[in-house]
Order: sequence, then C-alpha cells, then structure tokens
Amino acid sequence: MTDLSSFGGPLRAAVIGASGGIGGALVARLAADPAVEAVYAFSRRPVPAAEKVAPGQMDTDDDASVAAAAKGLAAAAPLGLVIVASGLLHDGAALQPEKSFRHLEAAALARSFQVNSIGPALVAKHFLPLLDRERKAVFAALSARVGSIGDNRMGGWYGYRAAKAALNMTIRCLAIEVARNRKQTLCVGLHPGTVDSRLSQPFQRGVAPEKLFSPATAAGHLLSVVDGLTPEDSGKVFAWDGQEIPA
Ligand SMILES: NC(=O)c1ccc[n+]([C@@H]2O[C@H](COP(=O)([O-])OP(=O)(O)OC[C@H]3O[C@@H](n4cnc5c(N)ncnc54)[C@H](OP(=O)(O)O)[C@@H]3O)[C@@H](O)[C@H]2O)c1
Repeated sequence: MTDLSSFGGPLRAAVIGASGGIGGALVARLAADPAVEAVYAFSRRPVPAAEKVAPGQMDTDDDASVAAAAKGLAAAAPLGLVIVASGLLHDGAALQPEKSFRHLEAAALARSFQVNSIGPALVAKHFLPLLDRERKAVFAALSARVGSIGDNRMGGWYGYRAAKAALNMTIRCLAIEVARNRKQTLCVGLHPGTVDSRLSQPFQRGVAPEKLFSPATAAGHLLSVVDGLTPEDSGKVFAWDGQEIPA
C-alpha cells in the first residue's frame, strides 16, 4: 500500500500517460490508497473508468489538448500530485534508438523531443496552476537515468538521452520559477528503473530478473520517493530507490 502521508490530507492526483505500463500502475496504486480521493487518468485513448478513477483524453503533442484537459479539471483543483508518465523510446521503422551518429534522422529526433521533452513541458504549463498552494504539492515527470550527462559512459540512444536531458533542464527551470511564489510545490524527475513495459520490451535481454521491475512494483517505488520529497529536493532527478541522479 502506498503511503502518501507527507501530503498532509486527502489528495487528488492526475496521471498523464495512463494507458502506459507505468502510468496504468500508478493510477491503480493511487486509486487503492485511502488517502487519495480521486485520480484523473489522462491518455490519448481514455482508459476505462474505475472506482475513484476519472479517465480523460489528452495528446501531449497538442497544446490545445493539454489546455482542454487542465480546464476540465478546474472544479477538481487543487491537485496535490501531477505525474507525467508518457514517453517514447521506439516506434517501429519511424524511431529506433540510434547506436551511432550515422543513424541520426531529423524526424526521429524531433519525435523523441516532442514526446519526451516538449509534451511534459506543456503539461507543466497548464497543470502547475492547478496545484495546491497551501501544502505540499508535486509535479513529477518520468525521466530516465540515461538522460544524465554525468552518468553517460556508454553513449548511443542519442535522441532519447538528449530529450530526457532536456526534460531534466525543464524540470530545473520549473523548480526555480515555482519556488518564488509556491514554497511547497516541488518539481522533480523520476527514474523508474528498468520496468517491464512496451517501452523496454525490445531491450530487456541482459537485464537480470531481479532488476526488471513489474509496473506495479515500479509504481510503489515511485510513490514512496514522491512521499519522501521535501522542498530542498525540487529541481532534481531521483531514481526508484530515492538516490539522486546527477545532471
Ligand atoms: N520502462 C522502462 O524501463 C523505463 C525506464 C526509464 C524511464 N522510463 C520512462 O517511464 C515513462 C513510462 O514508460 P513506460 O515504460 O510505462 O512505457 P509505455 O508502456 O510505452 O507507456 C508510454 C506512455 O506514453 C504515452 N504517450 C506516448 N506519446 C504520447 C503523446 N503524444 N501523448 C500522450 N501520451 C503519449 C503512451 O500512450 P499511448 O498508449 O497512446 O501510446 C503510453 O501511455 C516514460 O517516460 C519512459 O521514458 C521507462
């Protein structure tokens, strides 16, 4: 069971990318938590409704779609937690992680930046104003350890790494700006570990079974990290075990 006691009372949460492996597990775990009143679950194709789960449509490629989703939540505000769990690593012939600079393609790079970095920025634009000003509130986006410049020793995966690095920079900017008038609002990136989902499926060979988390396990890890966050943590990226990942 998740324990989101650090939020100090009943919580309303929004998850973007609710049709994904980790996003879906986050929705389920939040809905099962007695401290959570409602979960607003956004995806391109809305997920089925469930107890405490209100599905909604959102395409993070489209500013108007993100704006409409946020507008629809105005009556549900303030929210305590917004988690962006959308992301893209591969998409058939259109996008595969590049092993060499020789494989760089403008359209594939643009697609990766659109989904992994621009989309979460648009969500921040429209959803940060919905967060609770009076107590702890968290805007979190799923990043990836491979987006760390300091941690990059293997190279490759140019578009995905660079797009997640750009996401991390956006998170740092958001944290600095938001801290000026919302002292209890935190903006963080989260690395879920390697999680058994559509995104990681082609790249799971060589991952030790104990290091391949189920989406449900990953969701539990991530919500524990979120619960432990304090204002000094804003602007940073944290792994599933609570360790900070270098920029
Ligand atoms: N799995 C891992 O091992 C791993 C490791 C590190 C980081 N991450 C990060 O964790 C996050 C979740 O990944 P996952 O493993 O759960 O992958 P997943 O199962 O493939 O889910 C990805 C989600 O992103 C959504 N999405 C893609 N493009 C979108 C768009 N334009 N608008 C709205 N939603 C969009 C997908 O929606 P549709 O269903 O409509 O396509 C889906 O809900 C990603 O940011 C990923 O980079 C995952």
